[in-house]
Order: sequence, then structure tokens, then C-alpha cells
Amino acid sequence: MLFLSHLDHPQTVPIHLRTAYTCQTLKPFPNPAIVSPDNRCPWTRFKVATAIVVLASVLLAGEVNGGWDGGRGSQLSERINTAGSQTEDTCPALSLCCPAAIMVISVALIWGVVVGVCCCLWLLLGIRRRQPGEPPVENGLFPYLGCALQFGANPLEFLRSRQRRYGHIFTCKVAGQYVHFLCDPFSYHAVIRQGRHLDWKKFHFSASVKAFGHESMDPSHGYTTENLHQTFLKTLQGDALPSLIENMIENLQNVMLHSDTLKTSATTWEVDGVFAFCYKVMFESGYLTLFGKELSSQEDQNLARQEAQRALVLSALENYKEFDKIFPALVAGLPIHVFKSGHSARENLARTLLHENLHRRKGMSDLISLRMLLNDTLSTFTDISKARTHVALLWASQANTLPAAFWSLFYMIRSPEAMRAAKEEVERTLERSGQCARPGGPQLTLTREELDNMPVLDSIIKEAMRLSSASLNVRVAKQDFLLHLDNKESYRIRKDDVIALYPQLLHFDPEIYEDPLSYKYDRFLDENMQEKTCFYRNGRKLRYYYMPFGSGVTKCPGRFFAVHEIKLFLTLLLSFFEMELLDSGVKVPPLDQSRAGLGILQPTYDVDFRYRLRSQ
Ligand code: HEM
Repeated sequence: MLFLSHLDHPQTVPIHLRTAYTCQTLKPFPNPAIVSPDNRCPWTRFKVATAIVVLASVLLAGEVNGGWDGGRGSQLSERINTAGSQTEDTCPALSLCCPAAIMVISVALIWGVVVGVCCCLWLLLGIRRRQPGEPPVENGLFPYLGCALQFGANPLEFLRSRQRRYGHIFTCKVAGQYVHFLCDPFSYHAVIRQGRHLDWKKFHFSASVKAFGHESMDPSHGYTTENLHQTFLKTLQGDALPSLIENMIENLQNVMLHSDTLKTSATTWEVDGVFAFCYKVMFESGYLTLFGKELSSQEDQNLARQEAQRALVLSALENYKEFDKIFPALVAGLPIHVFKSGHSARENLARTLLHENLHRRKGMSDLISLRMLLNDTLSTFTDISKARTHVALLWASQANTLPAAFWSLFYMIRSPEAMRAAKEEVERTLERSGQCARPGGPQLTLTREELDNMPVLDSIIKEAMRLSSASLNVRVAKQDFLLHLDNKESYRIRKDDVIALYPQLLHFDPEIYEDPLSYKYDRFLDENMQEKTCFYRNGRKLRYYYMPFGSGVTKCPGRFFAVHEIKLFLTLLLSFFEMELLDSGVKVPPLDQSRAGLGILQPTYDVDFRYRLRSQ
């Protein structure tokens, strides 16, 4: 039970809630006015459940011990026996039935007891009763799982329906955890500003350990003294970006134009799935950009070595795909040993990323070389654990970028206006930098500034991610505290509860984005064709309107690089290739909801397109 003394700033609690606290402090029963109908009478449920259990136990005792209370039980057995012996003479079939009937009844009774005990435990331990001042609570239908199945089936619909029923904030039990969903974008700030009550490390570090199997990277667990967050910012942003961009554009061109990855010809069209195409090109280029190459430039000429290097990347891609398939299940808490091929795929990836192998590679990114250094100096990780931290980075760098590249390319090719505007912007950019795209000619280079000055591609990518992103932003309450919302209401949050934001609610809100389900390539452009940053809800300007990269302290540190990677990919495609969908009127494939909460969702099926080199 929570008391006023545990709460922050009780003087700021609205009057109606203050009364409720007072009631709670003085009386043992919750204030009926603010208790959800579901939980109005838990004692009645408890009594019913207890009665069932007692009845079942008594019946069972009667059967197993041969008596209800001694005499009556033996009378029953006797009666059954007598019945048996009486019928023995007259009906042999019944004499066989009776022992079987006893068995069936006994089994049924045992099950009755088990179910009854479970009901009791569920009622006693598994159901949260809403306390005064807390958000409305929904325990769900199933013990432990709570609302997990309904939420998992369609998170957006689930949250929208609860928002209509309960308002801006409500609590749902999801897989044993009480999650407070905050749906009012004007109140997001209360969670994002990361007050002293909220913790991000607990959830993030434990999810990473579960999925990748390395030792904990939380310094408080004693395996490392590293400030992980700072190392990400240092190696993925600011001064680290130009060399990432430079390597990425070089690798993209090598993969697209000078390797066997794509069959390129100016005369014949090549057919492929858009998703398969993005996977091949982006995975290989991204992998080489982060982890470098085994070849030096002189050795680059050696065909056999080049093939060996490609085989390595291809095998990494296959292992990555296999591991990525089971990733949602691992985050949900299933042990990796359940998934044989997924497990061995992760371990194969880890083996290629052992430090002894990485030391042989050249042109590695700062992200990986600093990780190696810190693994070796500040941690007590085993060799395989160090390698698994690299698997984690490989996954983080690809898992969202690949589907984001797919949606950006797919929506762009599908919309003639988007294609036209993008082509014009690419031509302008190359012209300004004095370059010309020719398949056999010098490699193109683009700087960070040039890429930042491409608002049309920016809007094309943003709009694609708005439509496909489904990340869940999660924080854990370090202590009991009061969460103050924008509308001046305050809610009591219990220690260890989770507070979650689901920005897809924002992204599909018709008040913020007119006609939210349709793709408008210029949605993020203002009247001067520059980045649009003013979005409104109920006439009020929103601070948070676009959040595919998470928020606050856990906001994706690779976001600038990710957008640059996709811009480079689209720029090179538009410069060197002609592309069209096989079916220009093809429907948008549905989002694969099984990955909801993890970031950019994949399409449920691929879409075919054709491409060929642009003739000069
Ligand atoms: C379109 C592409 C991408 C999207 C949509 C994306 C999205 C996200 C999201 C939603 C998170 C979790 C934020 C949170 O928990 O609140 C995250 C974390 C992270 N991302 Fe990205 N990401 C992308 C690309 C990348 C790339 C290319 C890299 C690195 C090269 C990267 C590195 C990371 C890392 C290291 C973290 C963990 C940060 C931490 O725990 O402190 N991401 N990303």
C-alpha cells in the first residue's frame, strides 16, 4: 500500500486525487469512485475461487482416502462397490465401466484442485488492484501473460481502444510486468526528460544480455567500467561521421557496380525483390564500413582473395538473417537454446567477430576499434563475450536500416512524383559538386554537408519511416513516484513498473498527419521545400511528432549515420540505375507485426522490381 509520505510533491496532487489518498491512508478499502469495474470486488472473486478449491479438495479427499469424513466416504465407496457387484451378475459391461468412471472422476477432481489453486494464486498474486491515484489497470484474461496476446496481435489497435476507454494513461499487465502506456504526446516530455525516478539501463542492458549472450555491460554489475553511451556518441556522431560516410559511399559503389552482388547491364533488365535487393546491397556495404576489410588495396586486385572476402560477408548475411528471425522471441525472454539454427547462427557470427579475427581487418570504423580497446582494457569479458558485443553492434546497425532502406526505395519507386523530385535533387547535388555519374568513371563522393542539403530525399526517407516504424520507448520506475502529465493530472507509479511510449500512435494520428495512412513524399517539406518542423495537434505545436529513433537518453546514437547511409543508397541508385516496379499498381505490403516494439517493421512479403544500368 502506498502512502502520501512516499510521494513527491504531494501539494501538487489534484484535489480529487488528494481525497483518494486520504481515504486510502485511513481506510483499508479503495475509493469505489476510482476503482475500475473489473476490480470492484476482488474479495467476491477470491471467495468464489476459494469455495471451488475447498469443494474440489473435499471431493478429492473423499475419493482418494476412501471417505468424505470417514463414514460417508466409505458409504460412497461401498455404494459404488455394491453397485458394481450388483451389476456384475446382471451386466458385465457395467462392471468394467465403474472402475473407469472412478478413475475419470478422480482425474477430473485432481484437475479441479490444480485449476482452483492456480485461480487462487492468480487472484492473490497475479492481479493488481488499482490504488487511489493510479492509472486505470487492466490485468488481462490470462495469468502472467495478462494482455500480452492482445497487445502482440496488433499493438496500435490495442492501445487505441484502451486510450478510448481509459484516456491518456492506463496500465496493462504484459508478460508479468505492469506497463503504464502514456498516449498523450504533450506529456511525453514527462518521461523523455528522464527524471531521477526513471531508469533506462535496467531494461536495455538486460535485453541485450538476453539476446546476444554477452556478460552484462552495466557497470554496476562489475564486468566493465565503461560508459557505453558515451562511446556510442563519440564514435557514431560529430567528428566520426565524415569517415563513416566516406567509407560507406565507396563500399556501396563497389558492391553495386564492381562486384558480383548485382548483375548489372545497360541492355537487359534484371528482376529482383526490392527487399532482397536492399538486404544484399546495404548489408554488405554496412558490414564492410563498420568492420573493415581483410584485404589491403594491393591485395584488392587478387580475384581469389576478393571472392574469399565476399564469401565471408555472404555467410555473415545468412547467419544474420537466421539470428534476426528469432530476435523478437529472445527479447520476449525465450532462451536461445530453444532455437537451434538461430543459436548456431549467432555463435557463427560471434566466431567471425572474435578479436583475433578482427585484428586482421583494415579500415575498421572507430565504433568497432574503440569497442575492441574498451573490451580489452576496461572489461573482464571472456573472448566470446567480447565477440558477442560486436554481434550486438552488427545487429543494431542493420536491423532497422535494412527495412528502412526497403520502405524508402519502395515508396519512392511507387510514386512518380517522388521519383521525379528525388532525381532532380540528386542531379542538382552532383552538378553543384562538379561530378558526373558514369559506371566506368571515377567514384562519386559526397560530404556530410552535401547530404544534409538534400531535403527531398530527407522527406522521402522520413515519410517511409513514419509509416513503418513501431518502436517502444521504455523506462523503469526506480521508486514510487508521481508522474505529472501535461493536463495537470498526476498519477502514482509504483517502483519497478514500466512506463512505455508507443510513437506509432503519433505517426498515425490523423490530427497530426492528415490522411495518415497515405504516403506523401513531401510531407516533411515546408513551402520553401526545406525541412518542415512544425506539426500541430488541437492547434498546439508539438515538440514530439516524429520518433522512429526513440527518445531522450536512449535515442539511437546511429541515427545520423543511418539516414546518411540510406540517402547515399538512393542517390547512387538514382544516379546509375533505371528502376521500376513490375506491377506499378502493386499494393503496399502489410507490416510484419511480430516485430512491433523493435523499430522499423519489415514487409510481410517482398515486391518485385526491375533495374538496369542507366545508358549514358
Ligand atoms: C533507420 C535506421 C535505424 C533506426 C530506425 C534505429 C532505431 C533505434 C532505436 C529505436 C533504438 C532504441 C532507442 C530506445 O531504446 O529508446 C536504437 C538504439 C541503438 N541504435 Fe539505432 N537505429 C537505426 C540505425 C542504427 C545504426 C546504423 C546504428 C549504428 C551504426 C545504430 C546504433 C544503435 C545503438 C548502438 C543503439 C543502442 C543505444 C544505447 O543503448 O545506448 N542504429 N536505434
